[in-house]
Amino acid sequence: MGSESDAVTVKRSSNHQRRRPNQTGTPSPHTERIRMKPTALDLFCGGGGTTIGLMQAGFQVTGVDIIQPKNYPGHDFIKKDVRDIPIDFLLGFDYVTASPPCHRHSIATRSQRDFDREKYPCYIEQVREMLRDHPLYSIENVPLAPLRTSLILTGQPFGLKRLWRKRHFENSFIVPQPSLGNRPRNCISVTTSMCSNNHYYRRKKLGLQGRPPLWVCLSIMGYPRWTWKHYPKWTLLNYHEVGNSVPPPYARYIAEHAKAYL
Ligand SMILES: C[S@@+](CC[C@H](N)C(=O)[O-])C[C@H]1O[C@@H](n2cnc3c(N)ncnc32)[C@H](O)[C@@H]1O
Repeated sequence: MGSESDAVTVKRSSNHQRRRPNQTGTPSPHTERIRMKPTALDLFCGGGGTTIGLMQAGFQVTGVDIIQPKNYPGHDFIKKDVRDIPIDFLLGFDYVTASPPCHRHSIATRSQRDFDREKYPCYIEQVREMLRDHPLYSIENVPLAPLRTSLILTGQPFGLKRLWRKRHFENSFIVPQPSLGNRPRNCISVTTSMCSNNHYYRRKKLGLQGRPPLWVCLSIMGYPRWTWKHYPKWTLLNYHEVGNSVPPPYARYIAEHAKAYL
């Protein structure tokens, strides 16, 4: 693994450059960055739901994903298979989060007629092993995943009235368990298939027209306004990425507790 460290190339996000135009003074931006903000590595970052929560908690975020998202909101991005990330590289970050793909354990996928478990690898054990020596990490997944769950979150503690989206977290540090409340009757599932025919059909039966606009999905999931106010001029995330994402308030809540350990 160690010999691969040179292969990690970090791509600075253009969004980040737009938001921080004034970086010419001394000390160098890099030194200043380290001094001012703790760093977080978001493994399996996808479109950046977790990343946004980490940024809201005040982290300088680097995302890693095997697919380049359309418009990654974090500070830096690495296009790479997470399993090829050197351990030394992980240890260089103050805090590491991981959201491995959940298809193998998700009820939505498992209930499909032709579900083939073997088609969907489970990375959880491998990721846990990679993070073994890191003092501050959080692994997220769906309820049926083989996590050593230390925290469960839903939309209710964050005032997200239409969101249930129960997610389990395995944290290497203590995060208080909030009360989860009851599943709201009128909750809406934001899924990757928001644009599928099946979804249109279900919505039609409920008397709703077409798919909800992307900004509605973003607001249900607790994305901050700056992510959806530009829609449709600037499509930060597409339906698939939003449907796959961790609601930013969940990631923010955990990250704010992680900061207490730095
Ligand atoms: C559940 S989504 C992550 C959602 C993300 N945390 C968010 O909040 O937006 C899982 C992501 O893992 C990525 N992925 C799958 N296999 C991967 C691998 N071997 N290495 C890196 N990324 C991978 C997928 O491209 C997908 O974006």
